Amino acid sequence: MLKLNITNRNGELVSVVAAANQTLMEVLRNRGDVEGLCGGQRACATCHVHIDTAWMGVVGEPGEEEAALLDFSMEKQSNSRLSCQIDLLDAMDGLALTVAAAEG
Ligand code: FES
Repeated sequence: MLKLNITNRNGELVSVVAAANQTLMEVLRNRGDVEGLCGGQRACATCHVHIDTAWMGVVGEPGEEEAALLDFSMEKQSNSRLSCQIDLLDAMDGLALTVAAAEG
């Protein structure tokens, strides 16, 4: 289990305990923090998050296709990731992230 520090779209900081071996999007979608409309197929970007920059080394940079989708986002930042592309690992205990504003 690992702890996630999530700032949701209302600007509220919530700490959540989650199991590893699932995607970050699944945790956020179950909480209603993101829509995850495409189910993790890298097609909707409704799972967009901003990773605390101190954690980018652990979480890693987006892959090529993920980066291409993020390029279409008005909310894109250097620490942007699609949460469906992040598999939660025990090493991510304490991960801090902010859910990007909804678009459209
Ligand atoms: S859930 Fe659609 S891109 Fe992540």
